[in-house]
Amino acid sequence: MLDIVIMAAGKGTRMKSSRPKVLHTLAGRALLQHVLATAAGLGAQRLITITGHGAEEVEAAMRSAFPEAPLAFVRQEPQLGTGHAVQQAVPLLDDAGTTLILNGDTPLIDASTARALVDACGGTQLALLTIDLADPTGYGRILRDGDGRGEKLLGIVEHKDASAAQRAIREVYTGMMAAPTALLKLWLARLSNDNAQREYYLTDVVAMAVADGVAVVAAQPASETEVLGVNSPLQLAELERRLQRKQAEALLEAGVRLTDPARFDLRGTLVCGGEVEIDVNCVFEGRVELGDRVHVGANCVIRDARIAAGAVIHPFTHIDGAEVGAGALVGPFARLRPGAELGAEVHIGNFVEVKNSTLARGAKANHLAYLGDATVGERVNYGAGSITANYDGANKHRTVIGDDVHVGSNCVLVAPVTLGAGATIGGGSTINKDVPAGQLGVARARQTVIAGWRRPTKKR
Ligand code: UD1
Ligand code: CA
Repeated sequence: MLDIVIMAAGKGTRMKSSRPKVLHTLAGRALLQHVLATAAGLGAQRLITITGHGAEEVEAAMRSAFPEAPLAFVRQEPQLGTGHAVQQAVPLLDDAGTTLILNGDTPLIDASTARALVDACGGTQLALLTIDLADPTGYGRILRDGDGRGEKLLGIVEHKDASAAQRAIREVYTGMMAAPTALLKLWLARLSNDNAQREYYLTDVVAMAVADGVAVVAAQPASETEVLGVNSPLQLAELERRLQRKQAEALLEAGVRLTDPARFDLRGTLVCGGEVEIDVNCVFEGRVELGDRVHVGANCVIRDARIAAGAVIHPFTHIDGAEVGAGALVGPFARLRPGAELGAEVHIGNFVEVKNSTLARGAKANHLAYLGDATVGERVNYGAGSITANYDGANKHRTVIGDDVHVGSNCVLVAPVTLGAGATIGGGSTINKDVPAGQLGVARARQTVIAGWRRPTKKR
C-alpha cells in the first residue's frame, strides 16, 4: 500500500508573485499539476497534498485538473518546516504501507525514479533520493561514514547548520524520500526545531532511523533535471527550456522535422502524422493534431486544433479551436478563431479572420476579410475587404453563402442573409436582402462622371 505526500504549503517568496508558487506554469501546466500527474501513475491509494499559502486556489485548481484522482488536501498553518508539513498528513497515512514524499515545486520527477525510490524502501528501509551536484549550495548534505565516502548513510545536515567540512560534501538530498509509514510516524513524533532555522526538519528522520537500527539507502535520479526545484523566475525559465528541449527531442526522434528544437514551445499535447515540418518559433497549446505532411511556417501560435493531411499553415498564423481540412492553405497572418471549420483545399490568406464558420471544399478568402457565423459553400470566392456583419449589437446572426458564389471586394453581408448557389455580389455592396441562386446582387451608389470638373488650384 502506497500513500504519497506532496509538500506544497511554502510561500515561494523568491518568485515575487502573488500567485502561489506551485501554480506557476511549466509548459502550460501548474508545477503541482506535473507532480500530481506523475504521482497519479504510481498506483497510490491517496495523493495527499500539504497546502498553506494560497491553499484554496491551489486545491480548486488541482481538483478541476484531476477530477478522477484520489486527491486529499491537508492544510498546514502556520508553516513550521518540512517535518511539520508531513506531520499534518499523519492521520491520513496507512500504518501498514509505505509513504512517498515528493515536492510540489520539483515538477519533473520521473515516474520511474519515484518507483525506484519506493522499491528501494521495500517497506522496511528509509530510502532517500540523492544526487551529486557541482554546486551543492543551499541543499541538505548527505552524511556518510568513512570520511563521508562510505556506504552507510548517517544523516542529513541542512546547509545553514553545516560546518565548513560538511559544506564541501557534494552529495545532496533532493527533498524526496520513501519510508515505512509506521516508522515514519514514530520519527515525526520525535522531531524538534532545535536548529538554525527554528524549523521542524523532515531530514532529521534520517539520524533517527540510523539510531533505531533501520537501514537507510539512497537512490539516484536518471538526470539532474528531474530533481531541479523552482524557487525563482530564473529557475522556472531554465526548467521550461529543459522541458521544451526534451519534448522537442521526443518529436524529432518520432520523425517530426523541427527546424530548431531550441525555438519550439509545446504547452500541452501535440500529435503528429508522418513527414510533418515545423519551422521556428511556433507555440502549440492544448491539444493539437497535425496530419501527415502538414507544414507549419515560422511564428505560428496554434491551440486546440486539428489540421488535416497536407495542409500548409504559413508564417504568423494564429489558430484557436479550429479545424483545417486536407490540403488547405492558411496564412500568412491569418486568424482562425473557435468554431472555424475549413474543408479540404480551402484557402485563407493574409489578414483574414474566421470565427464560428464552416467553409466547404475549395472555398477561398484570400485577403483582408472577416467571416463570422457563416456557412460557406464549395468553391466560393470571397473578395478582399468583405465582411459578414454578424452582430446587430444585441444578437448574432448567420450568413449563408451557397456553392460557387462570388462575393466581390469590400462587401458587407448584413446577417441574417442568404446568397443562393452561383450568385454574384458586386464589389462595394452592402447586402441586407437575400440574393437568389445565379443572380447578381449589387447595392452601391451609381458612379457619376462630372465632365469638365477642375481641381482646385493653390491661391497665390
Ligand atoms: C529541503 C530539505 C533539504 C533539501 C532541499 C531540496 C528539509 C529540512 N530540507 O530544504 O535537505 O536539500 O529541500 O530542495 O526538508 N514546505 C511546506 N511546509 C513547510 C516548509 C516547506 O509545505 O513548512 C514545502 C515547500 O513548499 C517546498 C518543500 O516543502 O515545496 C521544500 O521546502 P523548502 O523550504 O524549499 O526546503 P529547503 O529549505 O529547500
Ligand atoms: Ca526552507
